[in-house]
Amino acid sequence: MRDNGRMTAPLAPSAPVLSAAPASVTEHAPMPAAEDAPASATEDAPPATSAPVAPLAIGPHTVTPPVVLAPMAGITNAPFRTLCRDFSGGQGLFVSEMITTRALVERNEKTMQLIRFDASETPRSIQLYGVDPVTVGRAVQMIVDEDLADHIDLNFGCPVPKVTRKGGGSALPYKRPLLRAILREAVSNAGPLPVTMKMRKGIDDDHITYLDAGRIAVDEGVTAIALHGRTAAQHYGGTADWDAVARLKEHVPEIPVLGNGDIWSADDALRMVRETGCDGVVVGRGCLGRPWLFADLVAAFGGTGTAVRPTLNEVAGVMRRHAELLGEWIGDEARGVIDFRKHVAWYLKGFSVGSQLRKQLAVTSSLDELDELMAGLDLGQPWPDGADGPRGRTSGNNRVVLPDGWLKDPYDCAGIGADAELDTSGG
Ligand SMILES: Cc1cc2nc3c(=O)[nH]c(=O)nc-3n(C[C@H](O)[C@H](O)[C@H](O)COP(=O)(O)O)c2cc1C
Repeated sequence: MRDNGRMTAPLAPSAPVLSAAPASVTEHAPMPAAEDAPASATEDAPPATSAPVAPLAIGPHTVTPPVVLAPMAGITNAPFRTLCRDFSGGQGLFVSEMITTRALVERNEKTMQLIRFDASETPRSIQLYGVDPVTVGRAVQMIVDEDLADHIDLNFGCPVPKVTRKGGGSALPYKRPLLRAILREAVSNAGPLPVTMKMRKGIDDDHITYLDAGRIAVDEGVTAIALHGRTAAQHYGGTADWDAVARLKEHVPEIPVLGNGDIWSADDALRMVRETGCDGVVVGRGCLGRPWLFADLVAAFGGTGTAVRPTLNEVAGVMRRHAELLGEWIGDEARGVIDFRKHVAWYLKGFSVGSQLRKQLAVTSSLDELDELMAGLDLGQPWPDGADGPRGRTSGNNRVVLPDGWLKDPYDCAGIGADAELDTSGG
């Protein structure tokens, strides 16, 4: 690893990622990268054609097309970003999972591992989570001084109790002065690096914050805002409110607004832009077990349209590559394969795979074992109907756990401080 946090050995070859399928799984035909998708990958799928969508400027970085991989804790590490990126032909923006500012400034070992980028990643995007303005400022300063990233995104959208209970994530924008102070510290310490923010609509329907937060972000020099059209109380339930994205766009015309929530296909992404007037999209769960969605997105935003619909054989090749990359990144094959387990069900969604084999695949701990089990799959299966729909978390309507008295006064920030910071990264 170099001093600036980039890994010296690239995680993936510059050639299409699946061409690297190992000898032991040579029956897995390589899946094409975006630029050379064959007819078989586009058959049966309606092409998403439209006029090309304009690039997105994130400070000095031009993101073409304006498509961003959503930060997802435990998922969007360098291997997963590399896979998505290879399918996009290097286009788009790929954000790290959330890194807590306290853990970063304390140089927590796990956090320092999480912020490593592949040598091919540019610009390098880090998402930070913090509650204390001073700690956020120090973390940003450290990123600048040590050249750890090219773009910083701030997380104000996380709904999980361990985060909101401390007043962080989606709870934080309710306290307007605190939000302002954090953004001010981040932007003023970022030097030339653009600072963006990602948020939800608010805590719940009675405590909506996104319009106030958007205005504060503009005042404080934030470069762009991504809005997930749900409240914290909704978690991942119901449907994302794309009208809120449109309202935010109208409210802060000065800076780009990115729409997020329930984009499951390239068509959805184009529709998000068309219906809300937003400047780009952020795609999360739609990519789980489906990194090739980035090929579709790039094609659709470029106005050509394609829909990669891999056979199970091709999916198995991507799975193998993903597990292998995780092992290389972690520096331990077994730990890589164990980390890969969580992805198995997403990759196999909709395919006919016996329950016993599914169970075995979810407890593998070596690449050999993975190869052996995947060889037992009925690899000739075409992409299943319906597998393009929702995947990942869908639960909702949870009570939001907040610090005592949090909702009493949006302007009272007394008593919130460094002790509210989390000391572990990645969710
Ligand atoms: C497993 C998982 C982990 C997530 N981790 C983060 C995170 O670290 N930071 C963040 O801002 N959002 C996080 N999110 C939220 C996503 O970035 C995104 O806003 C949300 O999933 C809605 O977009 P989607 O409908 O495209 O999935 C996470 C979501 C999931 C499913």
